[in-house]
Order: sequence, then structure tokens, then C-alpha cells
Amino acid sequence: MKVLSGIQPTGLPHWGNYFGAIQQYIALQGNEQAFYFIADLHALTTIRDSATLAQNSADAALDLLALGLEPEKATLFRQSDVPEVTELTWLLLTITQMHLLEKCVSYKDKKERGIAADAGLFTYPVLMASDILIYDSEVVPVGADQIQHLEVTRDIAKRFNSLFGETFVLPAPHVLDSSAKVPGTDGEKMSKSYNNTIPIFETPKRLKKLINRIRTDSTPVEDPKDPDRCAVFDLYRLFASPEEQTQLADRYREGGMGYGDAKGLLYESAMEYFAAAFERRDDLKKRPDDVKDILKSGAATARARAREVVDRAKHACGLSCFL
Ligand code: ADP
Ligand code: TRP
Repeated sequence: MKVLSGIQPTGLPHWGNYFGAIQQYIALQGNEQAFYFIADLHALTTIRDSATLAQNSADAALDLLALGLEPEKATLFRQSDVPEVTELTWLLLTITQMHLLEKCVSYKDKKERGIAADAGLFTYPVLMASDILIYDSEVVPVGADQIQHLEVTRDIAKRFNSLFGETFVLPAPHVLDSSAKVPGTDGEKMSKSYNNTIPIFETPKRLKKLINRIRTDSTPVEDPKDPDRCAVFDLYRLFASPEEQTQLADRYREGGMGYGDAKGLLYESAMEYFAAAFERRDDLKKRPDDVKDILKSGAATARARAREVVDRAKHACGLSCFL
């Protein structure tokens, strides 16, 4: 199975990103093809500060490797290191119908809010189609918010195939486990846009502070509490063993326990859960050249695959390739 996914380097990865996406990418590594890339060209539609984009991209590589992505089992690269992707994007743009892009949520949202959108944002889904089709990807693990983009990818591939003959493999989305909708500190879905995130690689002090900030109700300490209606418990569930979860749920129901105790347990279990990742990240940080080598070698593998597919597409639509 050929698996591919991209991650935008738009900021510190948080618990929602890990349990909702990264953990599942890592579970799919070791497949016949497992390609994961840092979508820096996509991030360019929102980040306009060069130092921030460069730093975020470098950090994203460190984060993924620290969280368990193994270069022997998965190819990790930066999107911008595969220029073939932008080459294919043009071919795809020429056959992409405007109405497909006009209905895409991120563009529509901006337009409806009266914010001027750039052509890059409008054509964002075509670059994404190119990312996917260029490696003959079969399975694309994504969050529910990306399904629309996958449909556009399939529509573009179908149209190209019907105009120029079978060229692209039609990819299928692999929708990530939606039960892993991780709540943020305000109890709503954790998201960078809501300013309620708990970043994975946070200092212990900051982590404690963020956990203390998690919103709870005002049930007095002595009263019984409902673990199923508490963001602290929802988060604890992600880290704790089934026995630990039952133990804490019992303490909630019995009463006599304050939310502060539950927050303390959450802090400890999260620290323990990510301890190895923290260590790996610290170690990788001391070896920036090794990380660069991983990305370079990933890009070389990806480019070889991409070249074949772009040449196939060029040939199909009448652009001869001499090289
Ligand atoms: P954010 O909302 O913080 O900007 P992204 O859109 O960059 O996060 O998220 C990348 C992927 O991480 C999403 O497609 C989704 O699969 C996953 N994800 C993000 N937040 C959550 C969450 N709170 N719960 C579950 N999965 C999430
Ligand atoms: N648009 C995706 C996101 O915001 C990132 C992305 C870019 C991607 N290209 C991709 C995901 C190709 C899957 C496949 O999360």
C-alpha cells in the first residue's frame, strides 16, 4: 500500500495533532511506500515571515522524528525540495474547473468574511492534488477537515485521466479516528486557531500552567463528579492505561477529590508518555546535520518517484520530455 500525507509547519504541534494525526501516520510507516512531507509551500499561503517559516519547517522535522517517525520505515522530506510538485501543479491547473475550487471551505470562508484571498490560497487544493498524485499514492491519512481536498484531488485525477488517458492513480482518504477529538484547555476542540492548545514539547513549568488552566465546573471537592463530562478526564484517557482510567473514574464518582488532583495526575501521565520523545528531540537537536541528511535523502527518494509520474503526465498531455 502506498501511503502519503503532508503536515503544514504552522506552529508547535499539540496534543490534538499528535493523537488526531501524527500517531496514526507513525502507525502506517513500514508500508510498501510511506511518504510524509512537511508542507512548507502550503504554509507559504499563511506565513509571510521567512525566519518563522524556516524555523517551523526545521522544528517539524525534529518533532516528527522525535515522536517516532523512523527514516528506515518512512520517507520524510520537505515539499519544497521536490520541485516536480510545482511542475505538475501547472499541468493540473490547466484542467481544474473553477467551481471545484470556489466551493473549497478555506477559500470560501475567507471570501465570506470579506478578506481578500490570494491566488495561492485559491489554488491550494491543486498543489495538494499534485502532492498526492505525484507519488501514485493510494491511501492518504487525513483529518476530517481535509476530506474535501481529497475529493478535489480525485476529481482532478479523473478529469485528467478522461482527457488524456489513464495517468493517475485515484487515491482514497484514510480518515483518521474521529473519536480522537482532543479537547483544548477551554473544553472545545484543541486547535491553534482557538488559542487553547497544549503543545507536546512544552517545558514542565509551562505544561503545568496550561494543565491548571483547563476549564472545569464548580462542583465542590466533596461532591461526586462525572468523568465523562470533564476535559481533564478526557485528556487523561489519552495517556493512562485502562486500569488507571478506571481508578480515576471511580475517584471522580466517589467525591472527595478536587479537579486539582486530577490535573496533577494528568500532568504526570503526560510527562511520562512523552518522556522518550523529549529525549530523542534533545538528542536530534544536537545533530542538525543528521536531520538535514534525513531530509535530503528523503527528498532524493521522493524526487525519483515524482519524476517518473510527471514524465508520464507530460507525455500523456502532449509535452514531450527529452530529459
Ligand atoms: P490546528 O487546528 O491546531 O490548526 P491542524 O489543522 O494543523 O491543527 O491539524 C492537523 C491535523 O491534526 C488535522 O487534520 C487533524 O487530523 C489533527 N487534529 C488537530 N486538532 C485536533 C484535535 N483537537 N483532535 C483531533 N485531531 C486533531
Ligand atoms: N492541507 C493539509 C493540511 O492542512 C496538508 C497537506 C498538504 C496534505 N498536502 C497534502 C495532506 C497532501 C495530505 C496530502 O493538513
